[in-house]
Amino acid sequence: MMMKNLTRYFKSIRLLAILLLLQTVCRAQSPAQNAPQLGKATVKQVIAAMTLEEKAKLLVGAGRGFGPPPPPPVPGKKDSAAKPAAPAGPMIGQTDQKVPGAAGVTYAIPRLGIPAIVVSDGPAGVRISPIRKGDSSKTYYATAFPVGTLLASSWDVDLVKQVGVTFGNEVREYGIDILLGPGMNIHRNPLGGRNFEYYSEDPLVTGKMAAAIVQGIQSNGVGTSIKHYTANNQETHRNTVNTIVSERAMREIYLRGFEIAVKDAQPWTVMTSYNKLNGTYTSERADLVTNILRNEWGFKGFVMTDWGGGRDPIAQMKAGNDLIMPGNPNQAKAIIDAVNSKQLDESVLNANVEHMLNIILKSPAVANYKYSDAPDLKKDAQVSRMAAAQGMVLLKNSGSALPFSGIKKVALFGNTGYDIIAGGTGSGNVNKAYTTSLAQGLQNAGLQVDDALLKAYPAYIAAERAKQPKPQRGMAMFMGPPPVPQMAIADADLQQDAANNDIAVITIGRNAGEGADRKLPDDYYLSDAEKALIKNVSEAFHAKGKKVVVVLNIGGVIEVASWRDGVDAILLAWQPGLEAGNAITDVLSGAVNPSGKLATTFTMDYKDVPSAKNFPGKEYPDQATGEGFRRQMPAEVTYEDGIYVGYRYYSTFKVDPAYEFGYGLSYTTFNYSNFKLSAPVFKGKLTASVTITNSGKVAGKEVGQLYLSAPAAKLDKPVIELKGFAKTRLLQPGESQTLSFTIDARALASYDTAQEAWVAEAGNYTASIGASSKDIKQTAAFKLAKEMVVEKDEQALAPQVAISELKSK
Ligand code: BGC
Repeated sequence: MMMKNLTRYFKSIRLLAILLLLQTVCRAQSPAQNAPQLGKATVKQVIAAMTLEEKAKLLVGAGRGFGPPPPPPVPGKKDSAAKPAAPAGPMIGQTDQKVPGAAGVTYAIPRLGIPAIVVSDGPAGVRISPIRKGDSSKTYYATAFPVGTLLASSWDVDLVKQVGVTFGNEVREYGIDILLGPGMNIHRNPLGGRNFEYYSEDPLVTGKMAAAIVQGIQSNGVGTSIKHYTANNQETHRNTVNTIVSERAMREIYLRGFEIAVKDAQPWTVMTSYNKLNGTYTSERADLVTNILRNEWGFKGFVMTDWGGGRDPIAQMKAGNDLIMPGNPNQAKAIIDAVNSKQLDESVLNANVEHMLNIILKSPAVANYKYSDAPDLKKDAQVSRMAAAQGMVLLKNSGSALPFSGIKKVALFGNTGYDIIAGGTGSGNVNKAYTTSLAQGLQNAGLQVDDALLKAYPAYIAAERAKQPKPQRGMAMFMGPPPVPQMAIADADLQQDAANNDIAVITIGRNAGEGADRKLPDDYYLSDAEKALIKNVSEAFHAKGKKVVVVLNIGGVIEVASWRDGVDAILLAWQPGLEAGNAITDVLSGAVNPSGKLATTFTMDYKDVPSAKNFPGKEYPDQATGEGFRRQMPAEVTYEDGIYVGYRYYSTFKVDPAYEFGYGLSYTTFNYSNFKLSAPVFKGKLTASVTITNSGKVAGKEVGQLYLSAPAAKLDKPVIELKGFAKTRLLQPGESQTLSFTIDARALASYDTAQEAWVAEAGNYTASIGASSKDIKQTAAFKLAKEMVVEKDEQALAPQVAISELKSK
């Protein structure tokens, strides 16, 4: 009995102990359980519950050194941050967390319901690893869409939006929250290594294209990051270069596209650039990141650095560059220390955190979206093909060489006919499952490609590639293999090719990407072997009364004037994405009538380019630091060309280009009529309209371009500036469409730095409707009675002293 009682006694003691323990555990856990959760509590409540460490870590990406998100911190116990080396030099994002191969992730705070969000490149398609460790059952390829330069050449915002809708679905279905694109820097100079990622030399085309793709992508409930904000127009010394630009050129040229994209499409994020602007890194400039972007333009998302961009995390926080990517613990520690030592007010962090949480709140990650990892790549490839054909530009077509008529056998010359370039390298590259070569595309359309060439080229290319050195560590890994020189073809073989085939098609290919600008020899200019190929093929085929077509498979402008007279037709195919060969064939065969127009000028020669004198600027080797690919060289570039970029320069200073801005041929012809304005005097707004009629024999589309010439009594001005554009639907022969354009006050205004305002001068204006910047069809005049201050801004971006001037003092 006694034993029984004792056992009962001990049992109840044990029960009591368990109960007590449970209570203690529950009490200990209750603060976490009661912590406000993102999505349930307000953002302000979540911020109020965050520790300083949590704020700092959220504002610094979960980058390479952080590893997987740690368990929730124990309240009251300070985190001991590990100290991996700070990232050095240029880099392209690559993480193994969550979505392998994506560019980066943010820091998760599970106790507050804040998930990590995944960000991924890039502008022409999702860049993730196609193959995953320990997962051999599946691949993760993505669609390579045509590059930005091609999309812009379509001048078709509806088309670009449609590409965005398709693209954004792949972003979402691969578990990505924010796409790191579009790239939208201005084509200041043809040698810019990343020009293929960008749209145009003109800010209106740039802004409208960016807005369209942002709207399309974001319609899927995922975000974008318009980049690189701003004046990042070269790759040479991109991490150190100090870009010196006037405020007027910034406002009218380098900021304008971003302004349009922000106002029209509200991208979730903006990525600041690597370069300095007028002496300070862009990510550390409050005037750029907060005053202009947020206060003047009404940007509502968050701002992130480019990968490893800028130097001073405290300055970045103060400027309003909310997120530092890819992030390392030293940056988080520096932020925490700065708050503790009162150099940085915690309210700055609160504001930055709020910007981030507002966006995270909208992300698929917060909704725990169950992505499929299986977008419909077949369907998407067809969108890519369709868009590619719409942005190709027919530069020359003598004697109606194109479209193919009565052609059965094609002699296909040039390496890239067999090894086509779908897109550029670096973070703009896409891991696609395949690329359709032009040889394949022609055959898919039932054409016969010369058999001897079909065998010889791939064998030659493989042999040449085998001789190339293995890619080295660092940026070189991302830059792709060097080009294979053109194969020399014996004269006797050429004679046979000309006898056996109906037409010659020669491809000229160029590739480039982040980390380096292009060169003049063998890149901007054709190599000797390429010139010889064009000359020899043309002579052999012309001797037999057969035509020669050149297909340019390039990402940026090349020299054309010295060789174009020797060939019958030139199709600028750009880098058209994974369906390249099919899309080019669509245009060559006439299945698609080309309707692309140049969004960037092809000059007669490089020396005609206004920035040629100061590109890529000066370097200061005596001040260089680091070794190998970590070597950092102070450098500076002065934009002496000011607002006179692209056609603004060529038209004003009467420099005749080879193919002007806005130029592009069609297989049909168009007639412009009835160009008129809604009123002869400007009172806040005007409408311009024009009727375009297909006056030829096949269906086609035309791009109407509205240019304005403004009085230049107070400020100097380009003779014409593009203020609107629109593309017709597919017009059947004889069919017409009326296009209309709105001219608002801002379209009349230039930036007057003395007044810090957009000012429209009083006087006579001319509106012109053109098929290109030179081919003006009709004009109409209107008046502005009194000078108008359209918008008053705060002073910003004051140029600082250049390194060169400092040295001479
Ligand atoms: C590039 C960015 C890119 C980032 C992440 C950087 O090197 O400049 O455009 O988004 O890497 O990969």
